[in-house]
Amino acid sequence: MGNNKKYVELLWADKYDKYEKGKKISVDRPNLPFQKVETINKPRLKELEGGIFESSQIYPEEKYPENYPKDWKNKLIWGDNKLIMSSLIKQGWAGKIDLIYIDPPFFTGADFTIRTKLGDERIEKEPSIIEERAYKDTWSGGIASYLKYMYERLVLMRELLSDKGNIYVHCDWHVSHYLKCMMDEIFGYENFQAEIVWQRTLGHHLASGMDVMTDFILWYNKTNNFIYNQQYQSLSEEELKEKFSFIEEETGRRFTHEKLEQTSNIYSKGEVRVIQGKKVISNVGWRWTQETFYKRLRENPYLIFWTKEGRPRYKRYADEYQGRKLGNLWTDVAPLFSGSDERLEFDTQKPEALMKRIILASSNPGEIVADFFCGSGTTGSVAEKLGRRWIMSDLSKYAIQITRKRLLDVHNSMDLEVENQLKKKYKKCQNCGEKVECGEEWEKVKKLYKNPARPFELSNIGNYEIIYWEKKEEEYLKFMLKLYQSQQLEGFKYIHGQKANRCVHIGPLNAPVTMDEIEKLIKECNANKFKKADILGWEWSYEVNELGKALANKNGVDLKLIQIPSVNEIKSALVGFDLQLLKIPDQIIEKELSKYIKFPEVAYLELKSDINNKKISLKITDFQLSPTAELAEIAAKVKDSRELIDYWAVDWDYDNETFHNQWQSFRLKKEPKVEYETSHNYKERGKYQIMVKVVDVFGNDTNKIIKANLK
Ligand SMILES: C[S@@+](CC[C@H](N)C(=O)[O-])C[C@H]1O[C@@H](n2cnc3c(N)ncnc32)[C@H](O)[C@@H]1O
Repeated sequence: MGNNKKYVELLWADKYDKYEKGKKISVDRPNLPFQKVETINKPRLKELEGGIFESSQIYPEEKYPENYPKDWKNKLIWGDNKLIMSSLIKQGWAGKIDLIYIDPPFFTGADFTIRTKLGDERIEKEPSIIEERAYKDTWSGGIASYLKYMYERLVLMRELLSDKGNIYVHCDWHVSHYLKCMMDEIFGYENFQAEIVWQRTLGHHLASGMDVMTDFILWYNKTNNFIYNQQYQSLSEEELKEKFSFIEEETGRRFTHEKLEQTSNIYSKGEVRVIQGKKVISNVGWRWTQETFYKRLRENPYLIFWTKEGRPRYKRYADEYQGRKLGNLWTDVAPLFSGSDERLEFDTQKPEALMKRIILASSNPGEIVADFFCGSGTTGSVAEKLGRRWIMSDLSKYAIQITRKRLLDVHNSMDLEVENQLKKKYKKCQNCGEKVECGEEWEKVKKLYKNPARPFELSNIGNYEIIYWEKKEEEYLKFMLKLYQSQQLEGFKYIHGQKANRCVHIGPLNAPVTMDEIEKLIKECNANKFKKADILGWEWSYEVNELGKALANKNGVDLKLIQIPSVNEIKSALVGFDLQLLKIPDQIIEKELSKYIKFPEVAYLELKSDINNKKISLKITDFQLSPTAELAEIAAKVKDSRELIDYWAVDWDYDNETFHNQWQSFRLKKEPKVEYETSHNYKERGKYQIMVKVVDVFGNDTNKIIKANLK
């Protein structure tokens, strides 16, 4: 600051180590590995099978944009974006991203209810507190902790941006003023481009004061050599009528007219032009040569408008008008309404038209577009359809699940190339005068994208906690027991704790719980007269759910296999506390965290397989979730427990590392059902490991490996 009297800066608690002459607290930059969870090379076009496309059809490589590498896989990453971004930077991604759009959670108390259909019945589930927290703003430190959270992330985003890159930050009145100051500081006042005002609602007429009808999108770039492609805004019907107020008798086309004579063309003053057979002299000067007149009139014989005074002017038609040069006031991007085709039951979902405008303006085909707060995946869906590469992340597993399905079903979404022309033409439904999407008219004319998504992969960000705990077994056990709200027990080898009358065993950090471990625990239970046991595990070996329970049953022990929630989930519950998992004070674990974290029992998945020559058929014959409060809320509506499956996928040749999704079936808004059977033809006989991944309607994963021997 020195003696600079013009110096201005936004301050918040914890920005500096002390207020006066302090040093800025630096942003943590961990480098964690990405664990690939699923690779999706062949999104399946369910509806188009057996007709236009083969089920194995993938996006044709010859249709890739020129600079789109053929081996590129788009990226969907589950985890805290701070860890994701700092790891990306450390792993060589600095300066590689051309466009970042983010729509972070801010100070609103929006509803995050999951709305879905089970069988034929609709259900609404109140948000699990974890998701609600990840979305909402229970910022324990008020606005200061929010600003710290955003500052750390925006600094990382700037590093990821390429020199020609752009960033758009979507926010509302609660924080836009703070974020603008902050972005001036991070990106430079000179790199501010626009504060876009998006009219996101027509008003609610509920508030006693003024309705809040707008959001803000702050647009900055990294250098002054940034990508910008001019965009145009379409006019409203009234504006169009006003601007193009004449109608051509012969064709019915709307037009306005422009002059053909102007003084700056003085060289042609006094010259004659033959126009539609008439000889006309200009005392001013002509804009067009005689050849241009001939050429244009050959293309369109009605092009000339004659004034009452008999002067010629040329017509500009409404149907050829690109629109008004885009300004920063966006009133022409309609919000999503409940019946809209795009709507995905994700409350903060933004319209594709909004993202289309940003992506077209600030990136070119083949370039990389990122959204680190992706929610329902609007940015990726639009980037995919416009031939851009994409990277998306979210902390909520519900958001990741919605995004994964959205991309797998992208062929069924609107074709963005034609959307505008169609919408312009069919602006109102002819039946009811409502917006186009309302009626049959729209159903008849709308065009779907029809291409599958290019390959993408789903990853998880590794976490420090696991690495840290690896060397500190005692601390790990203590933390888990506390989170599970159980008490530690000393003097046993396999029994680590007790919860009410059940003993508790905590499975290993980086390995699946095995049958051997279960057997030893059961022996210890028998020797110490424990009749009930809970085993907490991150992963489970082959068939332990069935075999382990059978063994326990035989030995008179009531055994439950309990899934430890992923570290991401535990952390989602901490958004707003802005705390690190390893530094959380005990009382927060006890009073806050353990209240919100759910430990579900491992689901029961029964598969039937049939081998016929080189063909294997698979059928899900049973899927049971253990009773929970969430399930009890909807249990009455579930006729077949398999209806609780939201998504399932198969890797026919699982390599024990990454799950290669080779077939999938999932519920869609239009068709909320999965198929229960599938089959696969192997090229070669042999022994195969098949992995089946099931995600239930609450977003929990159940995996099962089966072995097949094709003799
Ligand atoms: C407003 S929503 C985004 C909506 C999105 N634009 C759409 O069209 O669907 C914000 C998202 O940020 C996610 N989020 C919040 N904190 C996060 C963090 N630290 N890392 C990654 N995602 C986070 C939330 O889970 C939520 O899905």
